[in-house]
Amino acid sequence: MTETDTLKHFREVVTSRRSVKRFTDERIPEEVLQDCFDLALLAPNSSNLQPWSFIRIVDPAVREQANRLCLGQNAAKTASELIAIVAHTDTWADNAEAVLQHWPVQPVPEIVKKYYQKLVPLNFRTGPMNAMAPLKKGLVALRRQRQSTPDMHYSEGTIKLWAVKSTALAAENLMLALRAHDFDSCPMEGFDEAGMKKQLHLGKHEHIVMMIGAGRRAENGIYHPQFRLPREQFIKEI
Ligand SMILES: Cc1cc2nc3c(=O)[nH]c(=O)nc-3n(C[C@H](O)[C@H](O)[C@H](O)COP(=O)(O)O)c2cc1C
Repeated sequence: MTETDTLKHFREVVTSRRSVKRFTDERIPEEVLQDCFDLALLAPNSSNLQPWSFIRIVDPAVREQANRLCLGQNAAKTASELIAIVAHTDTWADNAEAVLQHWPVQPVPEIVKKYYQKLVPLNFRTGPMNAMAPLKKGLVALRRQRQSTPDMHYSEGTIKLWAVKSTALAAENLMLALRAHDFDSCPMEGFDEAGMKKQLHLGKHEHIVMMIGAGRRAENGIYHPQFRLPREQFIKEI
């Protein structure tokens, strides 16, 4: 294996990232933060439907409430930035249309149009009170007798799982981008989601995947050396 410069830099970014629990007062320069958001938006995501948003809490009154809703964790209280990472279950239709408008090759190939105009709606529409679920489950089971067939969405729950997967990848891009800029972060699920949603005016189709505190690592910002369980437990071959 050749340790190229790219690999060296990547390794440095990944291995130096820690969940930092305390930050200094230093602000993240605006252009740095915006660059981190741009890099987050380049995360891989299902069908390029980009079911995410990043809410940077800038209003001091909302921020005070948000710190409290993060259970008073120092990783939130001391962070120069606090960002809600939100997965959306109701943006797929608008974004499918927008993807066709932004498609880099015009006219958009027919197969691409068919995917976003026919297959995506068929997959995501669940009907009132998930009324379409039994029919869709039947269709999938029938088709599986002939060929490999992916599952479809049957409820808000399956769409939520779908949206959270891609959004979590964007969250990781954001944290690695901060690290590459020599800043740090702490992802947090220790927060009161219902209260936070109220503060951020989020609705029932918006799910806060995690809160991220970000800033300059304080000297006492890390509580212990990084460790993981033995790799044999997690890396499998079949
Ligand atoms: C989804 C998620 C939620 C987390 N929630 C919290 C949290 O609420 N508070 C906290 O201090 N750390 C939180 N962490 C950080 C983990 O504790 C941390 O990633 C783990 O202990 C490994 O440490 P490292 O990130 O420094 O390698 C969270 C991490 C993830 C991915």
